[in-house]
Amino acid sequence: DHRHSLDLKNAIRAIPDYPKPGIIFRDITTLLGDARAFRRAVDELVQPFAGLKIAKIAGIEARGFILGGAVAHQLSAGFVPVRKKGKLPHETVSVTYQLEYGTDEIEVHKDAVKRGERVLLVDDLVATGGTAEAAVNLLSSLGAEVVAACFIVDLPDLGGADKVRRLGVPVRTLVAFSGH
Ligand code: PRP
Ligand code: MG
Repeated sequence: DHRHSLDLKNAIRAIPDYPKPGIIFRDITTLLGDARAFRRAVDELVQPFAGLKIAKIAGIEARGFILGGAVAHQLSAGFVPVRKKGKLPHETVSVTYQLEYGTDEIEVHKDAVKRGERVLLVDDLVATGGTAEAAVNLLSSLGAEVVAACFIVDLPDLGGADKVRRLGVPVRTLVAFSGH
């Protein structure tokens, strides 16, 4: 409910001018370190997905691993790491995506998901949506059905959640920070 999402919002620390002047960094380490807030965040993230027969959680390195593991446990699903380039030992597929300056690349093991498998994408935060869009494209290219994407934090001014929705993937977020 409203009170709970306020609690979650208050558990996230704001760091002004990080990583550069004018940016307010939303630091979830304070939420993760708060036992009640961490449990509540995971409980609320999974709430619509219990009973939807999610086979696997795909978590995006690095912060998406922390939540993705907990979500996978809660939904009795497997966990698939979507990693930054060069970290996975077996055969991979990779995709390059746009950052504010330059590009980055993420990849996943080719055999991490099966054709038609129902996958839930998990990350801590959606900003421009570039990372999540890349992850959806990777998983879809392997034939997975990305059932939804969920994030604790949305920065709606940057339009990332809508970008993911335009891919046909429903998006769940718990807390939004707008403006400055
Ligand atoms: C942050 C955040 C998301 C991504 C969101 O990760 O954890 O994964 O950026 O940004 P976007 O919506 O504009 O793509 P980051 O790449 O900073 O790395 P980390 O999770 O390894 O800290
Ligand atoms: Mg990240």
